[in-house]
Amino acid sequence: MSNLRSEIEKRRTFAIISHPDAGKTTLTEKFLLYGGAINLAGSVKGKATARHAVSDWMEIEKQRGISVTSSVLQFNYGGYCINILDTPGHQDFSEDTYRTLMAADSAVMVIDASKGVEAQTRKLFKVCVMRHIPIFTFINKMDRDANDTFDLLEDIENELGIETCPVNWPIGSGKQFKGVYDRETRKVMTFSDTLKGTKEGTEKEIDIDDLALEEEIGKEFKEKLLEDIELLDGAGAEFDIEKVSKGELSPVFFGSALTNFGVETFLQHFLNMTYSPLARNSDKGLIDPFNEDFSAFVFKIQANMNKNHRDRIAFMRICSGKFNAGMEVTHIQGGNKKVKLSQPQQMMADERKIVEEAYAGDIIGIFDPGIYSIGDTLTTAKDKFSFEGIPTFAPEHFARCSLVDSMKRKQFVKGVTQIAQEGAIQIFQEYKGGMEEIIVGVVGVLQFDVLKFRLKNEYNVDIRLETLPYEYIRWIGNPKEVNMDTLSGTSDMKKVKDMKDRPLLLFVNEWSIGMTLDRNEGLVLEEFSKN
Ligand code: G4P
Repeated sequence: MSNLRSEIEKRRTFAIISHPDAGKTTLTEKFLLYGGAINLAGSVKGKATARHAVSDWMEIEKQRGISVTSSVLQFNYGGYCINILDTPGHQDFSEDTYRTLMAADSAVMVIDASKGVEAQTRKLFKVCVMRHIPIFTFINKMDRDANDTFDLLEDIENELGIETCPVNWPIGSGKQFKGVYDRETRKVMTFSDTLKGTKEGTEKEIDIDDLALEEEIGKEFKEKLLEDIELLDGAGAEFDIEKVSKGELSPVFFGSALTNFGVETFLQHFLNMTYSPLARNSDKGLIDPFNEDFSAFVFKIQANMNKNHRDRIAFMRICSGKFNAGMEVTHIQGGNKKVKLSQPQQMMADERKIVEEAYAGDIIGIFDPGIYSIGDTLTTAKDKFSFEGIPTFAPEHFARCSLVDSMKRKQFVKGVTQIAQEGAIQIFQEYKGGMEEIIVGVVGVLQFDVLKFRLKNEYNVDIRLETLPYEYIRWIGNPKEVNMDTLSGTSDMKKVKDMKDRPLLLFVNEWSIGMTLDRNEGLVLEEFSKN
């Protein structure tokens, strides 16, 4: 097998999605631990500082001790080369979080066993569904009192509209957590508290038919387990790898990231059930990852990581072939210009390092002198093509943004335009207005602070932000057929246009969206906008 093929075949690139506090960081750290990428001792503790170290690129991150942008971690395990894309949570949730999912081949959804599906998971999940990528569920914190297992699965199915198939099954929870039963091997792995992962566990593997099981977990728990298995085998969805790969069925695992229980089993199953990078769609058809020609698309642009330079880093996902530092490629959206990919960087556990080579499936960050935009394609292929664009995701928070000192108009326009180009914010104008006053839309509220901070810091412009009550935005799907002047909606609806002069509507609630659709026959409203 050629080197290119074997390198790409061992790649697995996935994103971890969850609601804050479900245990995403803890699980990621345990994964890295298996890959030997971080030391065992004390690795779980000091999460805040660890995060800090991973990406304290921007001043604001340092000030607040949070990570504003998502990072990528690479490690090797069991012959695989794994890229984990972290999706930022908490208030640093942004459009970048969504875009990160465009670069992943599959997703791991972490759910807190005592909470079930939560808001942020729901949002991220929608993007995974749009992409039809496999979604694996890790139900975490089984060492704490958990919801009923059947209820948890029902919650996922109802809330997210995806079938579930438990690969293992928990026995008890909280103080009574006895372990998990593996449905394929028909063995029970017993749980022993590792005191938050600081002590080596003494897990035992016992066959379901082994009499020793009753002694180990108790008669009551064994009976309940047998009952559950019978119910599950009778009523649950059958495991079907086809459905898994299309994102229609989610394999479900139970465990406890903190105590390191069920994490390695999960990782092993996950690696077995997922594929190496698949072909990606372009305007010239599917692009095979094993193609000798290098190709990649930009999914994230991050500004001013080094404050002394006004530089940007363009993060790209390699989709085919091999990358070599300093290679010359064609930048399709840059008028087919040849560009040299210099200063390539990659995140490796908790440090940033320069990479010499990378393969399809990998993510690299390239020095950007201000020429790239989100969704751009770069390739060495003679027969030029561009990958399918990255959608613009609907912002959920809006504010009117005005200048404090009107003399600074030029810098202001330049600043907001550049920041919008990077994809940190979206800007809109009154449907009939100009740039004197703009409406800023963001996916996560922290982006408002980032905007204010960056305009002040990088462009020396002070702004005033006045929060607006809108929560929903819709692109007009059929603008040619719609007359914006006569379109009638609810009184609290607002007509705006984006930077590309596309008409949009802002709504305060979902009810208004429905009303507007009712009042305007034939009107098509879209939640995502293809670039
Ligand atoms: P996140 O990245 O999804 O936001 O979650 P994170 O891993 O930071 O975990 C959130 C909290 O839940 C942390 O506690 C973490 O220790 C705890 N946790 C994660 N997995 C498990 C688990 O399997 N069992 C139990 N019992 N707890 C778990 P914290 O008190 O907020 O932080 P820390 O000071 O303990 O790090």
